[in-house]
Amino acid sequence: MGNNYQHYHVGIIGAGIMGQGVAFQCAKFGHQVTLLDISEEVLAQARPKIEQLSRFDTMMQRQQKSPEGTCSRLLDNIRYTTDWADLGDCTFIIENATELETTKLDIFKRISSIIGNDVIVGVNTSCVSITKLAACLENPERVIGLHFSNPVHMMPAVEMVRGLFNSDSVIAAATGFLAGMKMHGIVVNDSPGFISNRVMLAYINEAIYCIHEGVATAGDIDRIFRECLSHTMGPLQTADLIGLDTILQAMNVVYSNFSDSKYRPCILLKRMVDAGILGRKSGKGFYDYSIN
Ligand SMILES: NC(=O)c1ccc[n+]([C@@H]2O[C@H](COP(=O)([O-])OP(=O)(O)OC[C@H]3O[C@@H](n4cnc5c(N)ncnc54)[C@H](O)[C@@H]3O)[C@@H](O)[C@H]2O)c1
Repeated sequence: MGNNYQHYHVGIIGAGIMGQGVAFQCAKFGHQVTLLDISEEVLAQARPKIEQLSRFDTMMQRQQKSPEGTCSRLLDNIRYTTDWADLGDCTFIIENATELETTKLDIFKRISSIIGNDVIVGVNTSCVSITKLAACLENPERVIGLHFSNPVHMMPAVEMVRGLFNSDSVIAAATGFLAGMKMHGIVVNDSPGFISNRVMLAYINEAIYCIHEGVATAGDIDRIFRECLSHTMGPLQTADLIGLDTILQAMNVVYSNFSDSKYRPCILLKRMVDAGILGRKSGKGFYDYSIN
């Protein structure tokens, strides 16, 4: 498994859907990982979920007769913690906490006194400004958007977001880090929602409006995209996979940044989130996952 690239001690902040995926991907390619969350409960759930990812990935590799083989041993490289001091010896940070600007700003202010001044900090955010978060740290040029997609280990590319401060050397280092995990970055400039979410949130929100207005059911809306337009998934399946709370938080960030009503979250989305109907992660969203 690729040994000719730099191995980091990667500190991953947030052990939810994306933190688990990024932690697994980093461990798989030989990085040492410290996975931090504020919730012991989340960390307890993260471990078996990462093991499940590993089993699934091993099965896929056997089917594809991939030379990478099993990676279960590498899962021993993941340390689970709620102690921020454990990030002190990390050489690369990837922040994946909840999509709230205030939460991410607090985290950046907190880590500024813990991590080294030259440690590159990747932000896995759907919409929050990379430049604004970077301004919380000394050497803001080392903060870069690394917008991974879910499921992380199945996606070859990452939307890499260049903040106002970014130097070419940081883009190059982040590119090398991704290449070591057989991934590549597609670089865009810092703007609310970047490219993927600016376009996708509007598409998902419009599909939710169609349900709200009684134009069609979730199942039929998704079928139109799969069966008429050859998409792998419809907008509502995608929303359930991402998490409806994350969609709402991201929409609020884009809406407030652009002050444009085309990004106003549909009231149905808000009510579903109020009710704890969050998609796959809660067992119910536009579809029912309780039997899986
Ligand atoms: N879900 C997706 O498909 C997807 C895709 C790309 C990017 N993202 C982005 O990744 C980030 C995480 O999304 P997710 O889907 O994993 O969310 P999630 O809700 O599954 O996980 C977020 C985690 O952050 C933790 N957290 C909250 N505050 C924290 C703090 N102060 N310090 C440390 N941990 C804290 C929570 O306990 C939770 O475990 C968000 O910014 C989101 O926009 C999500």
